[in-house]
Amino acid sequence: MTHYSAVKPPQAADDWTIPQEWDRYGADEHAMWDHLFERQTRMLPGRVAPAFLEGLDILRLSKPGIPDFTELNIRLMDATGWQVVAVPGLVPDAVFFDHLANRRFVAGRFIRTPEQIDYLEEPDIFHDVFGHVPLLANPVFADYMQAYGRGGRRAGELGAIARLARLYWYTVEFGLIRGADGLQIYGAGIVSSFSESIFALDDPSPNRIAFDLGRVMRTLYRIDDFQQTYFVIDSFEDLLHQTIESDFAPLYRSLQGAPDIGPAAVLDSDRVDHRGTQHYAHSRTVPTKAPA
Ligand SMILES: [Fe+2]
Repeated sequence: MTHYSAVKPPQAADDWTIPQEWDRYGADEHAMWDHLFERQTRMLPGRVAPAFLEGLDILRLSKPGIPDFTELNIRLMDATGWQVVAVPGLVPDAVFFDHLANRRFVAGRFIRTPEQIDYLEEPDIFHDVFGHVPLLANPVFADYMQAYGRGGRRAGELGAIARLARLYWYTVEFGLIRGADGLQIYGAGIVSSFSESIFALDDPSPNRIAFDLGRVMRTLYRIDDFQQTYFVIDSFEDLLHQTIESDFAPLYRSLQGAPDIGPAAVLDSDRVDHRGTQHYAHSRTVPTKAPA
């Protein structure tokens, strides 16, 4: 998800897709996938929403290494009717929304190098596929993602893309969910990150606040470091209902002129699970690259 007005590379199709060319990955690239996969799957049980672990099996294909989208898509299509398509990098919002509305998830095809293992500026195939695809195998979350894509088209017409982008950021990328035994992670930006998987749940620094659609749409976010606030949903069903059943046009209108809320702010109206110390954020005086 990005605001990007690039020129389409000549090798990309009209919808910006490109072939994955799975046969061109080298042994070192497959080994990097396997290393990251093993590192995350060892750490996630107990931390991640059970639906993510249930969906993770969809990535265990007939061969190790980076998933071949052709094989993956047969399984994903069978589960929820979604597909993964490769794109050359960040794509314009309208293209992104159109793919989601048609149950297609766009993924980068490159994988990080050993030097980038914990600091990555642009999402790679590990973030896009390991982080996002397991929940696309969950029927409720799959419907939420499609609803988001449809909402994106309308937001474009209403000049409200920035508001809607915050919803994506604080749910799909950095969302927490209430589990039977406490909070759990489900956002792709967290589950694909070794360090943020721990920080988001265990560190006293960030706020953890109950999800509220209008509140989230007003809240600024960090793109250069760990989040200062995480929003907690009660269930994927609840998230889906809040998005499908909300008429966003009056919501956008009601938010017009409302001041943005800082990434670390806590409001009197918030339902707070944890009021963060912000110690971590305050210790980082110099902007750094986003931890992967
Ligand atoms: Fe992502």
